[in-house]
Amino acid sequence: MADFFLPKNSKVQKGNVHAAKTSGKTKKFKVYRYDPDSGENPSYDTFEVDTDNCGPMVLDALIKMKGEQDPSLTFRRSCREGICGSCSMNIDGKNGLACTTAIEDCKSEVTITPLPHMEVIKDLVPDFTHFYAQYASIKPWLQTVTPEPSGKERLQSPEDRAKLDGLYECILCACCSTSCPSYWWNSDKFLGPAILLQAYRWLADSRDEMTGERLDELEDPFRLYRCHTIMNCANACPKGLNPAKAIAETKKMVAERHL
Ligand code: SF4
Ligand code: SF4
Ligand code: FES
Repeated sequence: MADFFLPKNSKVQKGNVHAAKTSGKTKKFKVYRYDPDSGENPSYDTFEVDTDNCGPMVLDALIKMKGEQDPSLTFRRSCREGICGSCSMNIDGKNGLACTTAIEDCKSEVTITPLPHMEVIKDLVPDFTHFYAQYASIKPWLQTVTPEPSGKERLQSPEDRAKLDGLYECILCACCSTSCPSYWWNSDKFLGPAILLQAYRWLADSRDEMTGERLDELEDPFRLYRCHTIMNCANACPKGLNPAKAIAETKKMVAERHL
């Protein structure tokens, strides 16, 4: 019989309790804490947040915790309006953006962890190195062979431009990829929904002239075909995009060139 051993640091321990600093109505947040350099196991710290004196979003609560209760709490954020993709994390078991998730829509005790199945750099900050390398691998820029038209841009009809709707809005937050079971188990070879949506964004662009080469790169049992249409990606996307549909369109393009 095979023996399985979990890594030593996989056991999440009980952490510190941080009382609210002001006296309004409080809500409890259970926040994942981990510092790989410390040699300690991860823990869940409990923060009591005075929601009467806090902005309405989960990101507001995290900023308040860091500012008033524990300055070492580490998380990413930038735009605070769902544009930069930095504050993606798992809130109450669902991947999403802390800046667009309302505190009042969360459970009475809100559990916050980093995006699943990624290495953790510290607390709520996952390591995106591999994700960005996969993004670079699909050459996410316009590639052409014909000479540039003189004195004007490469034009696109309104109809062709409309084909990019539902694709260009992606903010690369990785909520979809880190909710995809196929990506959990095969992220070394499967590109995952976010990167495949980006790949299709260039396949769908009427100005791009490398469609064949792009499809050659994707036509692989792992890079594209590890998607089994489980649809977690579309459910997770905070921008309402549908990576599974983009993947299906890509598979169709691959199939059609073999007809
Ligand atoms: S549809 Fe494909 S990419 Fe999306 S979650 Fe399922 S397996 Fe992953
Ligand atoms: S498709 Fe949606 S969930 Fe996936 S990376 Fe883009 S914005 Fe984030
Ligand atoms: S802070 Fe930019 S998306 Fe949340």
